[in-house]
Amino acid sequence: MENLKISCPCHFGLESVLSGEMKRLGFANVTSENGKVSFSGTLSDIAKANINLRTAERVLIELASFTALSFEELFQGVKAISWEDFICEDEAFPVKGWSLNSKLHSVPDCQSIIKKAVVRRLESKYGMSIFPETAAKHQIQFSILKDKVSIYLDTSGEGLHKRGYRRNSNAAPIKETLAAGILDIARVKGDSTVYDPMCGSGTFLIESFLRATKTAPGLRRYFAAENWKIFDKAIFKEARAEALDKIDRSVFLKGFGSDIDSEAVRLCIENSKKANAENRLSFKQMDVKDFSLTDIENGIVICNPPYGERLSDIRSAEALYRDMGRIFERKSGVNYYIISPHEDFEALFGRKADKRRKLYNGMIKCTLYQYFL
Ligand SMILES: C[S@@+](CC[C@H](N)C(=O)[O-])C[C@H]1O[C@@H](n2cnc3c(N)ncnc32)[C@H](O)[C@@H]1O
Repeated sequence: MENLKISCPCHFGLESVLSGEMKRLGFANVTSENGKVSFSGTLSDIAKANINLRTAERVLIELASFTALSFEELFQGVKAISWEDFICEDEAFPVKGWSLNSKLHSVPDCQSIIKKAVVRRLESKYGMSIFPETAAKHQIQFSILKDKVSIYLDTSGEGLHKRGYRRNSNAAPIKETLAAGILDIARVKGDSTVYDPMCGSGTFLIESFLRATKTAPGLRRYFAAENWKIFDKAIFKEARAEALDKIDRSVFLKGFGSDIDSEAVRLCIENSKKANAENRLSFKQMDVKDFSLTDIENGIVICNPPYGERLSDIRSAEALYRDMGRIFERKSGVNYYIISPHEDFEALFGRKADKRRKLYNGMIKCTLYQYFL
């Protein structure tokens, strides 16, 4: 199968990072829009994308895009898709999606129209009227935005932020995909030294290790499409072998994490073992107030301090930002990357950032404040 349109949703603000990743993997016709980057490729490219992309949320096959103002237009648009090229007689095809600012606003109704259209199409191709749907799941996704319908098949299954090393997390962990995007912006390399003095479950440091050692993030997990009959078993096997070949463990990356919470530190140690990163990363319990630059000559300090949700928590988060401003001094060779949703972060921290970048942490609008020297 050639020239499939493959679309990957990502965190708002990371589109250029994800398109850079795709170009480096050699994908063709990479195009970006808000929260989504697409390319054209083959089934092998789908396997490669799932295994290698660090900042994509999922890998979807975009099957059609059309305008629908009535259920009949929706039905005909979906029925015109050659579903038989993707779904075999016994495979499952549930439907889910959303609609925003559109005439077809009832999601359950759209869901059942789409299901009916796929069934009609497959009935006519396979000459059967009952589909057992007992074999591999092909999740059909739809979106309807301002009457424009897009229909996708999800090849990933579980979201790509699930790498397989973080079965455990503390409260408010940063998503692995967002952390990977921030590390790309911070240009973490094989010889970097990275510090996270509020490390939570250790995501920034474990992702730093994966990035530095060129370890593909999807090597420790499975993907929905692996069980689809149209995917020859060799496709994912070859993509995994290629990714394994690229791993370079001879790099010098070092990572130091600390957190005030001893349970968080215990989780970090556990998670870094699962990621085989324990030789390069070390963790300890420490209040950020005791973080010191005395022994640091070169380094990247990355953190997402608590945001504070209730008013009393916001006040203590603000006090923490003031403390951070005093502790994170200007020092040649040390750069800081701090993600926060607080509009007055710079005033509280006490310094204007050298660079800012808008990033969404889920639905929360944040800024990545960057301080260089
Ligand atoms: C938003 S979470 C960070 C999540 C982390 N990036 C992850 O991936 O799991 C904020 C962390 O800051 C820690 N923290 C709060 N106050 C602190 C302080 N004074 N010193 C050190 N750590 C602190 C919390 O225990 C929490 O783990």
